[in-house]
Amino acid sequence: MKIIRAKDYDDMSRKAANVLAAQVLLKPDSVLGLATGSSPLGMYQQLIERCKKGDISFAKVVSINLDEYAGLAPEHPQSYRYFMDHNLFNHIDIPPASTHLPNGLAEDATGECERYEALIASHGGIDMQLLGLGNNGHIGFNEPGGSFEKATHKVQLTESTIDANKRFFDSLDEVPRYAYTMGIRAIMQARRVLLVVAGSQKAQIVREAFFGPVTPEVPASILQLHGDVTLVGDEEAFSLI
Ligand code: GLP
Repeated sequence: MKIIRAKDYDDMSRKAANVLAAQVLLKPDSVLGLATGSSPLGMYQQLIERCKKGDISFAKVVSINLDEYAGLAPEHPQSYRYFMDHNLFNHIDIPPASTHLPNGLAEDATGECERYEALIASHGGIDMQLLGLGNNGHIGFNEPGGSFEKATHKVQLTESTIDANKRFFDSLDEVPRYAYTMGIRAIMQARRVLLVVAGSQKAQIVREAFFGPVTPEVPASILQLHGDVTLVGDEEAFSLI
């Protein structure tokens, strides 16, 4: 695992953008596994600026996002489709048809999971998977549990995740209880993984995930077994390692 230490959130965002921009420069038709959350937001702003300047192009990139809330329409401001469109896709030159997320409104959950698995396979897997880290060690919405869930699945969110994500909703009741998430297999089969983490509230879970035992109780710990992980974090997130 490569660990890149940044001073603060802005520095982390620039350094992470460097890694992702290098991937796209070296392989313009990369399949990117993209993520939502506060952690990659600054990095996305950096990538938008670089794309506008003409330093990088996403014209041939395919993006396959990690996860989506079940029950939210794409135009719902808290859906991950809305987040990605507004915080990245609408501002770069990626063709809209090359951007993919699970369909939060799918009526047939099993069929939707199968569709997503087939989509990932049809693009030959993921070249670079971007990840944030949940407070409880989740990646995507792979929540702590008794085993690593391999395939795309519909998941019941834990109380900890609902609590962490309530800040984006008007009330706790509005936070979706279920989500679709890519499974551990597609993440582990990604050729490269880039994980971004910032803030003192992540310090303890960073230590558990990357310096503790590999266990489904801390889903991100499986990344210790991946051959090409780059972890970019700020001083606060790395304060316990
Ligand atoms: C959410 C998302 C994850 C994200 C995580 C951390 O629940 N499903 O993909 O990485 O929480 O989010 P943040 O970066 O806002 O701390």
